[in-house]
Amino acid sequence: MRALPAQLTKQLLGWFRSNHRELPWRNAKDPYRIWVSEVMLQQTRVEAVCSYYERFLKRFPNLVALAGASQEELLAAWAGLGYYRRAFLLQEAAKRLVVEYGSELPEDYESILKLPGIGEYTAAAIASIAFDQPKIALDGNAIRVLARLTGEQREITRSPARRSLRQTGEELIEQVSVGQRGAFTQALMELGATVCAPRNPQCGSCPWVSSCDGFATGMAVLLPVKPIRKSVRHLELAVAVVQDKGRLLLRQRPSSASIMPGFWELPAVEGSSLVQDCFQELQLKCSRKIGSFAHCITNRVYACKVYEAVPENTKPQGYSWVQQSEIGKLPLATISKKALRHVLEP
Ligand code: ADE
Repeated sequence: MRALPAQLTKQLLGWFRSNHRELPWRNAKDPYRIWVSEVMLQQTRVEAVCSYYERFLKRFPNLVALAGASQEELLAAWAGLGYYRRAFLLQEAAKRLVVEYGSELPEDYESILKLPGIGEYTAAAIASIAFDQPKIALDGNAIRVLARLTGEQREITRSPARRSLRQTGEELIEQVSVGQRGAFTQALMELGATVCAPRNPQCGSCPWVSSCDGFATGMAVLLPVKPIRKSVRHLELAVAVVQDKGRLLLRQRPSSASIMPGFWELPAVEGSSLVQDCFQELQLKCSRKIGSFAHCITNRVYACKVYEAVPENTKPQGYSWVQQSEIGKLPLATISKKALRHVLEP
């Protein structure tokens, strides 16, 4: 690997000082706040996180408040951010920190990494932003910037490319002066999020343009080399709205579910060519179709059909009758929310 010019870190920090976006967590000094922002940002876009972040911190201003929250309160504050397991893991970590670390985050990378819900990327982001450690946080944006800077043409999910990008990142952050490591971490991500964009990089505005291999070879837009994507799966989902005396039939998803754990949902059946009597197993009888909509979850696209239905005998096992007036207080799964728009809203 060719030597990296010594001025790179200074150029990036200078650019960041005058070009960064004002984001709610940018001036946070409290490690708890930085940790919450990094967990929210794990799988959710910056724009989406902004509107939840302050509200969540108002509701849970410190580790102790978060550790003591009920599951319902936690889900209500996280609702809309998606990937709900993150919220449970965040709370599990908070509980552990209260007991084992005197309600504070540990400063060293290895201890941060051991906490639930924290991988290498998040641990490095917290270590550098909250504690000024020279740890390199490689998210998708940072990987793209470094792959273009060094002209990395190997596939980025594989070890040789990963190792090389990590080495470049480490070499860079180790040159950054004390007190500036957090700014460097955020600057690298910011460059990727704004200037070094995936499809339309603004190389004319980049502080690294004169050192960038991708720019020099005209390859920037083709980098990084990603694995071939898994194809999208198209599925059908039949959702039943079962009403009786102002009540709705719902069940709570298990807290071990990978998608929307602990959320409440309408009876539903998943398949690839569903027909109207698909609810037999749940002992529900459909009366009529009342709507349809599409819903995407990662690489699955659901064509959802909403039916009105009635129980054949008694209510199906695991389900409860919930007063319609109470539904607004429950964390409701997104598909059920969309389905209920066909009956509860004008
Ligand atoms: N993505 C992950 N962490 C981030 C941060 N601190 N600022 C902006 N985008 C991010």
